[in-house]
Amino acid sequence: MPVTARSYAKINLGLAIGERRDNGFHDLLTVYQTVAAYDTIKVAMGKGTGIEIRCRDPRVPADESNTCYRVADRVLRKLKQRGKLTITIEKNLPVQGGLGAGSSNAVATMLALERELKDRLLPMDRLNIAADVGSDLPLFLVGGTVMGIGRGEQVFPLEDLPAIHCVLAFPKSAVSTPEAFLDWDEKYGEDHKYRDPAKLAKLTQTTGSDTINPFSRALFSWLTGTSTGVPARSGDRAETLLLDLVRAGIENDFERVVFPKHPELRDVKRVLEREGARYASLSGSGSALYGLFPSAESAAQAAAKLTKEGVPAQATATLTRADYWRSILD
Ligand code: C5P
Repeated sequence: MPVTARSYAKINLGLAIGERRDNGFHDLLTVYQTVAAYDTIKVAMGKGTGIEIRCRDPRVPADESNTCYRVADRVLRKLKQRGKLTITIEKNLPVQGGLGAGSSNAVATMLALERELKDRLLPMDRLNIAADVGSDLPLFLVGGTVMGIGRGEQVFPLEDLPAIHCVLAFPKSAVSTPEAFLDWDEKYGEDHKYRDPAKLAKLTQTTGSDTINPFSRALFSWLTGTSTGVPARSGDRAETLLLDLVRAGIENDFERVVFPKHPELRDVKRVLEREGARYASLSGSGSALYGLFPSAESAAQAAAKLTKEGVPAQATATLTRADYWRSILD
């Protein structure tokens, strides 16, 4: 019997892009949140050797570049295990949509493979393998509401936001993450700042690469419950906590380079807001967007409206850390 794992998606509740480092990666500050929409991963060990990736979606690579392959290869080596490994990926989430699906698939593979091998990696080995394969993998070793820094791979559990209704929208536009970072550098990067005399004259002004500081202050206000002056635990806790975060001024910097190139994505954000989203944003570098809604009815209505307008959308909910770990493996 293969081991089955649910591979949940994530959204970014704000994302600030900092400077590009010598290793080519940018400093980031973001809050990740897992959501209940998922792909399914099946892992089975048999006689023989090699790793086979099976997926009906032709956009998912079946070779050693696949994140599941890369993680599985490292897990087998670390645990000194041999055999023929078959990984089956059933896709529901968009490929390269900013929902971390490929990264989540890889972490789900790691957890399912440990179960299949009846062996476990040390927590630090899990984290090292995840961070080695991609910046967005480690958050899936935490789940729930997670702060990400460094290139996004340094993760810290935050006080969990209670589950809240959420709409995921999947526009057909394709956004490449490395390209979005390049666009960011061109528009707001340090080199640009020093080349542009107008910007040089205004160096005291906030530039693109300064957004990490305001975001970290906003996050601090949110976590200490002072951004609205309203105690975070009064009233409807889920919504109060969330509104505190929104009022603290979270934004996704990628919107500043992705929306001008793909105006249809800004339109989707506007539809989500018009339909009553308390907060709507691009997730990661897109092209998926999400809206956070006060009720299941308003979320279902917004998803139906978008789908009718030709943008596939799904009403779901955010996933707390406890529910994430309770349901990832059967
Ligand atoms: O680590 P990951 O596979 O997600 O990164 C994909 C690409 O995105 C990197 O090769 C890099 O060009 C860009 N990136 C970046 N800064 C980050 C994360 C990713 O520039 N913090």
